[in-house]
Amino acid sequence: MKAMVVEMEEGVKDNAASPLKSRLTNQSRALFSMRLLQILLLFLVLTLGISVVGIHTIKFLRIQHLPPVAPTTTTLISNYDHHGTVTLESFIKPPLNVWHTMNDSELLWRASMEPRRIVYPFKRVPKLAFMFLTKGPLPFAPLWEMFFKGHEGLYSIYVHALPDYRSDFSRSSVFYKRYVPSQAVAWGEMSMCDAERRLLSNALLDISNEWFVLVSESCIPLRGFSFIYGYVSESRHSFMGSIDEEGPDGRGRYRDGMEPEISLSQWRKGSQWFEVNRKLAVEIVQDTTYYPKFKEFCKPPCYVDEHYFPTMLSMKHRVSLANRTLTWTDWSRGGAHPATFDKADITETFLKNLPEAKACSYNDERSQVCYLFARKFAPSALEPLLQLAPKVLGF
Ligand SMILES: *[C@@H]1O[C@H](CO)[C@@H](O)[C@H](O)[C@H]1NC(C)=O
Ligand SMILES: *[C@@H]1O[C@H](CO)[C@@H](O)[C@H](O)[C@H]1NC(C)=O
Repeated sequence: MKAMVVEMEEGVKDNAASPLKSRLTNQSRALFSMRLLQILLLFLVLTLGISVVGIHTIKFLRIQHLPPVAPTTTTLISNYDHHGTVTLESFIKPPLNVWHTMNDSELLWRASMEPRRIVYPFKRVPKLAFMFLTKGPLPFAPLWEMFFKGHEGLYSIYVHALPDYRSDFSRSSVFYKRYVPSQAVAWGEMSMCDAERRLLSNALLDISNEWFVLVSESCIPLRGFSFIYGYVSESRHSFMGSIDEEGPDGRGRYRDGMEPEISLSQWRKGSQWFEVNRKLAVEIVQDTTYYPKFKEFCKPPCYVDEHYFPTMLSMKHRVSLANRTLTWTDWSRGGAHPATFDKADITETFLKNLPEAKACSYNDERSQVCYLFARKFAPSALEPLLQLAPKVLGF
């Protein structure tokens, strides 16, 4: 814009100066003053024009230099193109940047919308959405980068971190600009389920996401991408742990106040780390029946993230659940937290034995592959894992 202004000014000088010189000698004084008046008028109009352009330029530059509190461009999947005309494209193209300006009620409402016709009027390649729940950093990012490499178009990534966390991934990273608007999370409280619902909602905004996997910053993949994609996409069930457990840590966490919405026999427990298909993901984000009950009655030592989704989904969708998680965790040491593995634990034998930890059911048949992810790993485990990944994990 600056360049244009300069050009315009030079143009004025050239056009005005040359006829002035040539005509001075031949023409009368009156004509000369008329000319002068015309030139002055033209000059006035131009000055006015330039100042208007200038003011706009300054305004424009100011807007560009606003601190990046939240991107001003909306990432809502809009129904309209820039002419205000409804287009299919605007429904099916995922936002480039996962940031948006919706609050939770707006986001959940938007995410709960689903097409009901079974046939898609476009080529839809179903994607596997990876939802990372972390305080901020992703110590295993280099391992995940290796895992995702070459599988573009088959996955999406969403990260929920503490609200004030600023990630510094470069443009070439799969995690670049994948942090969603977030809120603080307290371990074992409803804010944890809120974060999980927020992740699901953000992922649901991309119509191509078909399966949704929740992982933490201390999780690692145990197989190559293609294997995991095949295992999840060919499964007739979603991998949500959901069991009816006796004792204080199971049925003991149930409260009578949850009736009539939830009875003791409907109470379920399962791992926080799940994989669900799109239908169940929508079921979770649309729920307004069970949410208030869990929020009011399931407080520590009732860890709501172990009960809310497993109980809710087993009520209406029990036939869709595998009742087991895909994420291996070592609880053998006892206590409220599972074992953490560090550098010294990572050997070929250790990694090879993990996925076959026990037999399980897959599409109603016995399978030796029960786990696709594992936790918890300390950041020091990254180095040996990167070395062993090609040989042992297959990526
Ligand atoms: C979101 O914003 C709307 C409109 O301002 C408001 O009515 C609603 O209560 C907000 N919801 C939350 C969870 O803040
Ligand atoms: C999961 O458990 C429910 C009972 O809650 C049962 O009906 C369903 O068949 C189980 N799923 C599998 C795959 O065994």
